Amino acid sequence: MSVFSEFTIADGLTVKNRIVKAAMEENLAGEQFLPSDGLINLYRTWAKGGTGMLITGNVMVDHRSMTGPGGVALEAHTDLTRFKQWAQAGQENGCKMMMQISHPGRQIYAALGGKVVAPSAVALEMGGASKMFAMPTPMTEDEIEQAIEHFAITASKAKQAGFDAVQVHGAHGYLVAQFLSPLSNQRDDQWGGSLQNRARFLLAIVARIKDKCGPDFPVAVKLNSADFQRGGFDVDDAKLVAKWLEKAGVCLIELSGGSYESPAMQGDTADQRTLAREAYFLEFAKEMRQSLTVPLMTTGGIRRLPVAQNVVVQGIELVGVASALAYCPDLPNQWQQQADYVAPVQTASFKSKSLRGMANMMLVSRQLGRMAAGKPVKQVSPVVTLAWSQWRMQKLVKRYKKQLG
Ligand SMILES: Cc1cc2nc3c(=O)[nH]c(=O)nc-3n(C[C@H](O)[C@H](O)[C@H](O)COP(=O)(O)O)c2cc1C
Repeated sequence: MSVFSEFTIADGLTVKNRIVKAAMEENLAGEQFLPSDGLINLYRTWAKGGTGMLITGNVMVDHRSMTGPGGVALEAHTDLTRFKQWAQAGQENGCKMMMQISHPGRQIYAALGGKVVAPSAVALEMGGASKMFAMPTPMTEDEIEQAIEHFAITASKAKQAGFDAVQVHGAHGYLVAQFLSPLSNQRDDQWGGSLQNRARFLLAIVARIKDKCGPDFPVAVKLNSADFQRGGFDVDDAKLVAKWLEKAGVCLIELSGGSYESPAMQGDTADQRTLAREAYFLEFAKEMRQSLTVPLMTTGGIRRLPVAQNVVVQGIELVGVASALAYCPDLPNQWQQQADYVAPVQTASFKSKSLRGMANMMLVSRQLGRMAAGKPVKQVSPVVTLAWSQWRMQKLVKRYKKQLG
């Protein structure tokens, strides 16, 4: 089996190869949370680069709760013109477009403001950085119902705009993952306690999307194989939840791991468990493969063709690539011409783990901004990039607060 072979994820959703661009928040929205020209241009560039499917950066289901100040939001009142252009740009060259839809819950920077809700009043525990986040308000029954509806509305508008599928972001410590984890979900009603109760929110979202969009519209989920925190959502939980998602008719489960508290998706864990140096979650994916028939994708640490190829050979249908595609938008085309090609991913070498993690994210973000503006990829200074992103975020926060009213 080759990464360059076709694969049918669901009826009407066939990808020309197994390489999928995983979600990367672009922070490139224009006014009113709409896709900007640059964002549309970025997806056209990726589509031309030979990737089989592009998963968008997380699109917010409620503009009052955003993961970042420059994010895109798609809500009941949103005009679809720019979303249609975005879908079409990403569908050039036979590529497919899946929109990732998300709610951050408690993972909202205090400086950003907005509505910070979560299953329970449990603040993020990030040592000295904890104060960057506000204490969340526990969601009422009505707020839970509204959030489920918001996910379904965003999905149905994505379908109307021409996206091929949606992906519910259930990983990385955002709202859905907060419900799944016993550390952040301490409710004693039908939404908390047993795993079945903690998974109710995610399963209700999937069911409501299927209700609104029809049973044939493909719905995927990004799920943590584990949170990598002691007492958190672990691989046995992930196996069960994945089984329930399979029964609920999801078309694809993307496996990742971690959260802001334990950034395993970047290869670092809070519980000291070590991840593979490349394809971080492949072993977890293989373990889950044994009890599941739903197509799986693993994302994290994939930069080289032999690693991508090994994922497919091990029975994981799709290969998720994020950072490497920010540094080399035509990576699949490059790999076809030169099998030992390695994307020039830049990494910061700061001693502090958290500063290093943040700088690596910002380095990727900066390349996305350059590509959106039609500029070539370039190695840049991590220090300057951190300063640049601070300055840019401040500007975007000001704009966000104005739009929030
Ligand atoms: C700048 C940046 C933004 C990201 N934004 C998202 C996001 O919006 N949604 C998501 O599920 N993952 C997001 N991720 C995580 C990636 O999808 C992926 O899981 C992670 O980067 C590991 O893959 P990689 O080693 O190929 O980069 C982001 C990663 C980066 C670097």
